Amino acid sequence: MAIRSLEDLALEGKRVFMRVDFNVPLADRDGRQAVSDDARIRAALPSIQHCIERGARLVLGSHLGRPKGKAKPEFSLEPVAAHLAGLIDQDVLLTDEPVGDGARKVVGDLREGQVVLLENLRFHPGEEANDEGFARSLASFADVYINDAFGTAHRAHASTAGMVSLVAERGAGYLMLKEIEFLSRLLGEVDRPYLAVLGGAKVSDKIEVLEALLERVNAIVIGGAMANTFLAAQGGELGKSKVETDKLPLARNFLRKAGERGVTVHLPSDVVVADSLDTEAGRAVAVDAIGAGDMALDIGPDSATSYADEIGKARTLFWNGPMGVFEKEPFAAGTLAVAKAVAGNPHALTVVGGGDSAAAVVQMGVADKISHVSTGGGASLEFVQGLTLPGIAALEGA
Ligand code: 3PG
Repeated sequence: MAIRSLEDLALEGKRVFMRVDFNVPLADRDGRQAVSDDARIRAALPSIQHCIERGARLVLGSHLGRPKGKAKPEFSLEPVAAHLAGLIDQDVLLTDEPVGDGARKVVGDLREGQVVLLENLRFHPGEEANDEGFARSLASFADVYINDAFGTAHRAHASTAGMVSLVAERGAGYLMLKEIEFLSRLLGEVDRPYLAVLGGAKVSDKIEVLEALLERVNAIVIGGAMANTFLAAQGGELGKSKVETDKLPLARNFLRKAGERGVTVHLPSDVVVADSLDTEAGRAVAVDAIGAGDMALDIGPDSATSYADEIGKARTLFWNGPMGVFEKEPFAAGTLAVAKAVAGNPHALTVVGGGDSAAAVVQMGVADKISHVSTGGGASLEFVQGLTLPGIAALEGA
């Protein structure tokens, strides 16, 4: 069944519960916690503004981090509420708990066009357990349910799954629909070559998506510490680099299958090494010259150039995961080079997903040159695998 959009729903005067993904990074600013990357909050603004303009009584629900069912001050959504208030230029109330008497009172007193953010949904164990009682409490706050939290759509939690059928009307927000539209294009007939660029720390985190992509892509470019395991699987000596030794057979098996299917797998020819993560600068070495004390922490300049060439040839491209320890300046160049190359390909449908990859395109100032920068990390990976995401499936069962 087709998913209804905000446009299809009467919102005037209604209590609208909107699940958003405000799981954003926080950092200390002048002794207080503040939002350090608000991309996910900004991405939900069109839906939020639409509800306000229609005179809805808007109840926003989100998680932040993994507080494991307990109220922990460091995971409070207080800095997020303050940040959102600045963005929409109006007050955003924050409840003291996600559900309970206090929250019920604040929601009950809401006037048309007002906004309340429930405190971190994961402060209650019922959220991740998809507990029916918790789902009912959330549903009691709403006449209309909207999911605009694409980044959490792969979780079957009370606010993304359990409560949905308990609310009379339901639909997707603008962000959710945009994410579905772009990511679906990667699953249909695509222009070729179709290139996947995958990075990140662990083969074990990405093996399922790698296997699924073998069915669809023409080539895969691999970077990040995950590349170390593939290089080791081919017999490479990686020194002190992070290698998942228990995953070597998996990596070998994957490379064999890729060969059988005619999918080219590109691995780094050189890497940036150091003997510690805290060094001021790394050294570029060929992968067959990694010393016994070296740790590979980024792809090297030759690999960055050849990866950029492959990226330039693609007509469809999906990128998830950094090429190195992107958050450390000496090891960020590979990821930034990939970001630049993806943005520099005007002929391809380019989709970037995941925190570090999205941050890299923002840092390079090229986000507007990418067809779609997804707000989902795990969610976008599951989507391109062709898996059913519970948060989306719940909306389809309207
Ligand atoms: C994310 O950041 O990927 C989403 O907000 C989901 O968070 P989670 O992995 O803690 O469920």
